[in-house]
Amino acid sequence: MGLPFPFPPFPPQMLVLVGLLLCLAPADSLNTFPPKFQVGKLNGDVVVKCSTAEENVTWTQNGEPEPMAELVAEGRTLTILGLDLPAAGNYSCWAGNVLLDSTYVVRPSFPSAPPGEEGMNVSCQAESYRGSFRCSWAAPRSAVFRGRLTLSDGSLGEWVPASRRRGRFNASFVDPFFCPFAEELRPLRLQLEGLSDTSYISFSSHFFIRDIVRPDPPQELAVQRRGEHLHLAWTPPASWPLPRSYFALLYRLQYELPNGTQADKYVEGEEETWLRDSAQRVRISCRDPYTSPSWSTWSPWHGTGAAQQRRLRAL
Ligand SMILES: *[C@@H]1O[C@H](CO)[C@@H](O)[C@H](O)[C@H]1NC(C)=O
Ligand SMILES: *[C@@H]1O[C@H](CO)[C@@H](O)[C@H](O)[C@H]1NC(C)=O
Ligand SMILES: *[C@@H]1O[C@H](CO)[C@@H](O)[C@H](O)[C@H]1NC(C)=O
Ligand SMILES: *[C@@H]1O[C@H](CO)[C@@H](O)[C@H](O)[C@H]1NC(C)=O
Ligand SMILES: *[C@@H]1O[C@H](CO)[C@@H](O)[C@H](O)[C@H]1NC(C)=O
Repeated sequence: MGLPFPFPPFPPQMLVLVGLLLCLAPADSLNTFPPKFQVGKLNGDVVVKCSTAEENVTWTQNGEPEPMAELVAEGRTLTILGLDLPAAGNYSCWAGNVLLDSTYVVRPSFPSAPPGEEGMNVSCQAESYRGSFRCSWAAPRSAVFRGRLTLSDGSLGEWVPASRRRGRFNASFVDPFFCPFAEELRPLRLQLEGLSDTSYISFSSHFFIRDIVRPDPPQELAVQRRGEHLHLAWTPPASWPLPRSYFALLYRLQYELPNGTQADKYVEGEEETWLRDSAQRVRISCRDPYTSPSWSTWSPWHGTGAAQQRRLRAL
């Protein structure tokens, strides 16, 4: 079934390629960020340049020589008239069958939303004050994302590709100029951008490392029975910065009594404590006592041998 040609006439020196809506070939979904892309205005014209010394080139859209868009090709320049959904995609220019250049053309995906933090829920977490952190966010499966950081010295970091796992994207960032000993005066700025086969989205997030710190759990929890008491000792998470006097940790021990009740004990600035010997099992977590209120995940439960002890006494 053909469609009428509702297009106004063009000057004869322009070559007009008209695609048919009904044979729309869907763009291949993206696996990585294309090296070259252009974001057009919805229903605006987009000018794509072929980077080449060739004077005459031919164009394909998503590998098809009969593009879905209304196009004007002139020398090395292609103008997409009125960017709509089927006009988005991968435009390649060729000299014969030699590929010269490719540009991915997309629409802005939220034309009505204000730019910035709206529309995307990014959550970031740092395991310590080393200037590295990880962010994750939810997004459609067919998209690709990347992010970059404005570093403490004011320069822009490299783009970091995000990886996808169970419906969420995540990426790790490092600010090599971050100083763990200085008070953060300005928030970090993280810029994220995403491409689907037809659309582009960009958003940024501002935050202080101190507000996103969540330590790893403490390590090497050891329990020793000493007479009527249990002696507990542990070490801070390996990722936590030194010196301990400056980067203090507040520890939370949770233990289970024989009747199943759980009780907590808090310890600050020490890496050992005593518990009553009836505790059946114990686990530990920690947080920064001064800034971020996020507790680490729990260490695994650690048995105390109390149950065996009671059985032995009963013999
Ligand atoms: C665009 O098309 C060209 C030519 O078919 C191909 O080499 C290139 O990988 C495509 N780019 C993307 C991002 O799909
Ligand atoms: C470019 O293509 C036009 C039209 O097909 C042709 O008239 C012209 O000679 C070509 N120019 C070159 C340098 O190949
Ligand atoms: C944002 O994402 C976090 C982490 O997945 C979630 O806990 C929170 O409820 C989300 N907030 C909104 C407003 O969607
Ligand atoms: C983020 O991606 C990395 C690499 O694919 C993976 O190892 C890690 O577990 C992911 N993190 C989250 C929170 O999904
Ligand atoms: C469990 O034992 C503890 C200490 O012996 C006691 O304080 C607590 O009330 C008991 N809880 C229940 C639910 O019996």
